[in-house]
Amino acid sequence: MRLKKHPILKFKRKKEITFFYEGQPIIAYEDEPIAAALHAAGITTLSESFRFHRARGFFCAIGKCASCVMEVDGVSNVKTCIVPAMQGMKVKKQIKAKVSPEEFSGPKVFKQTPVIKTDFAIVGGGPAGLSAAIYAARFGIKPMIIEENFLMGGQLIKQTHKFFGSKSHYASIRGIDIAKILINDAQEKGVDIWTSSSVVGFFSGNTLGVIKEGQYYKVKAKTILISTGASEKSISFPGNDLPGVYGAGAIQTLMNVYGIIPGKRVLILGAGNIGVIVAYQLLQAGIEVVAVAEALPRIGAYIVHSAKLKRLGVPIFTSHTISHVFGKDRVEQAEIVEINNKWQKISGTEKRLDVDTVGLAVGLSPSVEILSQAGANMTYIPELGGYITLHNINMETSIPGTFIAGDISGIEEASSAMLEGRIAGLNATNKIIGENKEIEQEITKNQKELVELREGPFGEKIRIGNQKLYKEAENNGIY
Ligand SMILES: Cc1cc2nc3c(=O)[nH]c(=O)nc-3n(C[C@H](O)[C@H](O)[C@H](O)COP(=O)(O)OP(=O)(O)OC[C@H]3O[C@@H](n4cnc5c(N)ncnc54)[C@H](O)[C@@H]3O)c2cc1C
Ligand code: FES
Repeated sequence: MRLKKHPILKFKRKKEITFFYEGQPIIAYEDEPIAAALHAAGITTLSESFRFHRARGFFCAIGKCASCVMEVDGVSNVKTCIVPAMQGMKVKKQIKAKVSPEEFSGPKVFKQTPVIKTDFAIVGGGPAGLSAAIYAARFGIKPMIIEENFLMGGQLIKQTHKFFGSKSHYASIRGIDIAKILINDAQEKGVDIWTSSSVVGFFSGNTLGVIKEGQYYKVKAKTILISTGASEKSISFPGNDLPGVYGAGAIQTLMNVYGIIPGKRVLILGAGNIGVIVAYQLLQAGIEVVAVAEALPRIGAYIVHSAKLKRLGVPIFTSHTISHVFGKDRVEQAEIVEINNKWQKISGTEKRLDVDTVGLAVGLSPSVEILSQAGANMTYIPELGGYITLHNINMETSIPGTFIAGDISGIEEASSAMLEGRIAGLNATNKIIGENKEIEQEITKNQKELVELREGPFGEKIRIGNQKLYKEAENNGIY
């Protein structure tokens, strides 16, 4: 079902088109991903597990988990959450990937792979990548952004809440509008933007392997920024693979970007900022939030967000976890249970909830795969979200001339991603044009703002994480 009315968002749907799912016509709109259009038509099972043929739906909706892969026009393993539906497309449920050489339908490889040369290649067009491009372009560089999704803006395009902070951090502006400002600015400054383009490898000689619309390219760059963001974590409980168990960010994408109702009655797991914000956004869209369950004995979100939920009568069960999801082809019920301070379930406290959707807001993991494959030095820092690429305060990694910014450098939020992007973009520019006093001053200014942003109790975790990170980086010769 599609949302017709929303207090903040206006869904200007483009031209109506028809594609075919297992031979059945499905109505979609131009620039709507296949998986979203299927969801709007009530089809939530996109594939089956190979062995037991259990129903599989999508989980992340941003191209990071592969639970939405389907066969599209004869090509298997298409991530249907980030590929737009097209007129006449033929889509099938994928029971197994085509693996025999005769059937293999991988990217078209030219006899001679085209090599694109650029001063500054940026992987990921979220707030970090866009900010880096804009700041580099201010000093005469023409960066190239390579973005896997067909839409630019990363996670900002689904954030309807207003940002905090100062004017430089776009205070009082909604995330969706900040995304538009950044995208327009990058376009006006002549940034070369490649959408629907995935970076699939990082090779010696500062070379990236890129697949764009089924064709393979090499991008050779003087400097590189990896700003690939993060992916949502899952937790283990019976039924966690059923369609209807989504990452909270996937609910946001479906609802706020495409105006599609994820379900009618929702349980959110996790009362940190993302969980509580998504719960409130569901209520704004007219969807019932049955409960929020949080394993910690306290609510982690900013009071300003959690107070809104409490005012609207949504129960927040602290010291509770999810113990089971029931259903055949999608979620029909969920069970939550109280836990003690050793995280053990307290028998007799189980509560069965009639829900058709469960949103997991249980944390994010930095998307480090590209740099891990390239052999960059890594470490594990729980406070930053897991495996992190070692880097210095200029955001440079152990691979000279390669930078990181945003969630990949530690899970935080969009304001810090933008500041890190600026710092990385300015340092990359310094490498290309030679050291410049004006750039140095800009770097110092943005580094100072980043320190200020992380002051106070909510920045404590990231401060502890970064202390560990810089120590380890120094031990590895990264200053
Ligand atoms: C699911 C989710 C929900 C969130 N919700 C909120 C919220 O409600 N409120 C809030 O304040 N913060 C939220 N955040 C945090 C905040 O949005 C992020 O901190 C911020 O967007 C990070 O910016 P980024 O540029 O590092 O990453 P992102 O915004 O995630 O952008 C990364 C981009 O890289 C692209 N990419 C990844 N891999 C490749 C590849 N191999 N090739 C090409 N492109 C690639 C992705 O498609 C994406 O567009 C959320 C984060 C996530 C992951
Ligand atoms: S990759 Fe499509 S749902 Fe995760």
